[in-house]
Amino acid sequence: MKALLCEAFGPIDNLMVKETATPEPEEDQVLVEVKSASLNYPDALMVLGRYQVKPPFPFSPGMDLAGVVAQVGRNVDHVAVGDRVIAFPGYGAFAEFCLAPKEKVSPLPDGMPFHAGAACGLTYATVIHAFLDCTQVRPGENVLILGASGGVGTAAIEVVKALGARAVAAASTADKLDLCKKMGADAIINYDSEDLRQQALALTDGRGVDVVFDPVGGDYTLAALRGTAWGGRLLVVGFAAGSIPKIPLNYALLSERAIIGVFWGSWSSQYPEGQRRNMAQLSKWYAEGKINPLINDVISLDEVPKAMHRLMERKVTGKLVIQIQPE
Ligand SMILES: NC(=O)c1ccc[n+]([C@@H]2O[C@H](COP(=O)([O-])OP(=O)(O)OC[C@H]3O[C@@H](n4cnc5c(N)ncnc54)[C@H](OP(=O)(O)O)[C@@H]3O)[C@@H](O)[C@H]2O)c1
Repeated sequence: MKALLCEAFGPIDNLMVKETATPEPEEDQVLVEVKSASLNYPDALMVLGRYQVKPPFPFSPGMDLAGVVAQVGRNVDHVAVGDRVIAFPGYGAFAEFCLAPKEKVSPLPDGMPFHAGAACGLTYATVIHAFLDCTQVRPGENVLILGASGGVGTAAIEVVKALGARAVAAASTADKLDLCKKMGADAIINYDSEDLRQQALALTDGRGVDVVFDPVGGDYTLAALRGTAWGGRLLVVGFAAGSIPKIPLNYALLSERAIIGVFWGSWSSQYPEGQRRNMAQLSKWYAEGKINPLINDVISLDEVPKAMHRLMERKVTGKLVIQIQPE
């Protein structure tokens, strides 16, 4: 099979498409013929050796995919050969065939094309977990979303709206904020040219937002936390800005704010029932027309290294989908 291979941690441009052996599933694994995969920020971190998961070499990056079940291990009974599925292998999706643990394979929602399935995998799973399990976003609450035009950010806008809450989108350029509006954001903040805390207060009549969804980190985190109301909740999702913020805890104490970590990958391995419940919620919202992932572009396997650079240079909005095999 063809696969994009990483043979050593290092420059993204060392990734090469090569022929390699098609793997065989073990008893608790599913082999999926990959139709579409999507690019996520952690794929680039993994290739650079800066992600918490460090697979043995050579490996293919790629954390989520949509495709057709090709083989199942003997302990797998919830999907069968020929089923259309969405899968979260952790890595390996940028290849014609990919192994995934059985608990990380779910039916593709009815009527969902492969590209959309790949585009909404990791991002919507993370966001749904953040808003339903890590905290509970209630109708009418104000949710401030940082990096709102990115992969998890655009998913967060849609899920906040599906939950009947108010989405306040923060991003770095006017174009990105226009896109957030089109995705359904109720209010916008340019966090590079405006004071994030002041704007969060101004947009909520001085009260502050109820929840912050933060996949960006850096200096934005403390400003956003200080823009929350009494009892505000900060969801720590990632550090795309590159630096891990250090938060003086008096800002938590003074307004009884909560700082909550979100680690979907580990949670979904430990709580497969919760993951199944969240995937059922995703299917329901898709059927109701409440969510539809924003696909920025469809690219080939050879174009992935260039796309990783674009992602790390803040030049991508929504999701980049990789067409691996024809439908
Ligand atoms: N905790 C979890 O379970 C989980 C799951 C999935 C993803 N994540 C994390 O979530 C983060 C976002 O992932 P994603 O796939 O949504 O990425 P993405 O599409 O690239 O979005 C990241 C956003 O961060 C902003 N940003 C600010 N400074 C940046 C910088 N120096 N470089 C790149 N982006 C910067 C960009 O928006 P502006 O230009 O508007 O600032 C960009 O839209 C990553 O750190 C990822 O590891 C965590």
